[in-house]
Amino acid sequence: MMRAILTRLIAPLAAASFALAGCGGHNDMATPPKGSPEQIARGRYLAHAADCAACHTATGGAPFAGGVKLESQFGTFYGTNITPDPKHGIGMWSADDFYGALHDGVTPKHKLYPAMPYTSYRQMSREDSDAIYAYLMTQKPAAVPSIEPDLRFPYNVRFAVRLWDMLFLKDTLPDASSGQSADWTRGRYLANALGHCAECHTPRGAFGQMQDAKTLQGGALGRIGAPEITPAALAARGWTGADLQAFFATGVAKQGSAFGEMHPVVYLSTQHLSSEDLRALATYLLGDAPPEPAPLAVTRDDAAQFIAARSLYLNSCAGCHGIDGQGKPHVAVAMDGNSTLRQADPRNLVVSMLDGIEAQRFPGVENMQAMPGFAQTYGDEQIAQLANYLRVTWGGQPGDVTADKVKSLR
Ligand code: HEC
Ligand code: HEC
Ligand code: HEC
Repeated sequence: MMRAILTRLIAPLAAASFALAGCGGHNDMATPPKGSPEQIARGRYLAHAADCAACHTATGGAPFAGGVKLESQFGTFYGTNITPDPKHGIGMWSADDFYGALHDGVTPKHKLYPAMPYTSYRQMSREDSDAIYAYLMTQKPAAVPSIEPDLRFPYNVRFAVRLWDMLFLKDTLPDASSGQSADWTRGRYLANALGHCAECHTPRGAFGQMQDAKTLQGGALGRIGAPEITPAALAARGWTGADLQAFFATGVAKQGSAFGEMHPVVYLSTQHLSSEDLRALATYLLGDAPPEPAPLAVTRDDAAQFIAARSLYLNSCAGCHGIDGQGKPHVAVAMDGNSTLRQADPRNLVVSMLDGIEAQRFPGVENMQAMPGFAQTYGDEQIAQLANYLRVTWGGQPGDVTADKVKSLR
């Protein structure tokens, strides 16, 4: 009897002092988690698969505190603070509010721009949205204000995005492959709803919308473009399901390494996928009946034409990529059969020669060293010769890169 009264007295007191301690900010005990440990663990997995960190965690910044700069043709967007901070983040949001942001691009405050890929996340299940919400709510609140986008008129009128949504926001995304298996269906969800692959790999129209009729046929992006990844295009560059799985798990396959904007996709997202999900993603990309990977159709009888280019290669490239383009384990990827050389569009090949590639970390293998840039070393004509030598010798592509083309990519 005495005990019952005491608890009734103490309980509200304890709650009040807990709340006070919380207000003072001297107590690290956050509010109790909003989900079960299983749901939170699943939310963490899904946040990786959906790569939220790519746009919401700045290099050197607190996790999910925002500040990532995203350049576009309309101006500059910034990933926002999505930690549970009540003032600067989403701490006051309900799971419904959160689903509204992912599904409709609408927040309690305003209409979001499609730089936040709700165009893809719209297909995410309510259950998965709730799991990500539960996970984010366990993150450390960061008192970092979000940065408003810096856009040109008329794009700075948020309300106008509703019109854009009416025209371009769809309930499903088109498929580039066909299939029915459980793996294909899961892979479709991973690619379209979570991994938002189409946001980079599908070309965009004049209003920044994904061009559905050209799904996964290659997007322009910045200097390094996202190549076509339809089943036919992947097979034409020699990709098999097993190679794709290796690429998504480690960032390296015998077709080469992930670089440009694809490197963070692997590093922050796909390396964390389970082996079942890796298999599903590869199955979706190639379809249930994957096309045969094309053998490399090379004509090695053009030696005379490439004497000068061959000596440039031996001087500047062979030390890392091998005399016969065979690469060196843990030093540099092979050129022989490299998918960047097998693309009809020489852009990524030329730009990686000009700019080089910063030292990148790969899961599983050691850090790869930096690939130096050759923009200062070689003129347009020499870069074009080198590109043609590589394309013809190890890429099965015509040697049609001109000095003017190189100039336009500088
Ligand atoms: C390609 C970049 C990108 C990715 C990936 C991305 N976001 Fe965003 N997100 C943005 C941008 C940019 C904004 C701000 C848009 C604006 O200003 O209208 C935003 C806004 C938001 C908002 C609204 C926040 C606010 O305060 O208004 C939420 C919530 C959000 N994102 C959650 C997520 C979650 C969860 C994921 C992963 C499932 C994710 N985002 C992945 C770019 C991204
Ligand atoms: C110091 C070693 C080094 C030298 C010299 C070098 N590379 Fe590389 N190269 C690399 C490494 C390492 C990568 C992979 C980098 C990554 O993805 O992090 C790479 C990547 C590439 C790629 C992108 C393909 C892919 O799958 O990553 C191309 C194309 C390329 N090199 C061409 C050349 C050419 C042509 C030359 C000579 C003009 C050259 N490289 C010189 C180390 C080198
Ligand atoms: C932020 C933009 C971006 C997103 C999102 C993205 N990619 Fe990429 N992807 C690129 C770029 C840029 C390249 C070219 C550089 C390279 O080869 O690594 C590329 C290359 C690739 C390649 C190698 C193609 C080849 O033949 O060399 C594959 C396969 C690929 N992406 C699949 C995917 C899948 C699957 C997803 C979704 C899970 C995805 N990408 C999401 C930008 C992106």
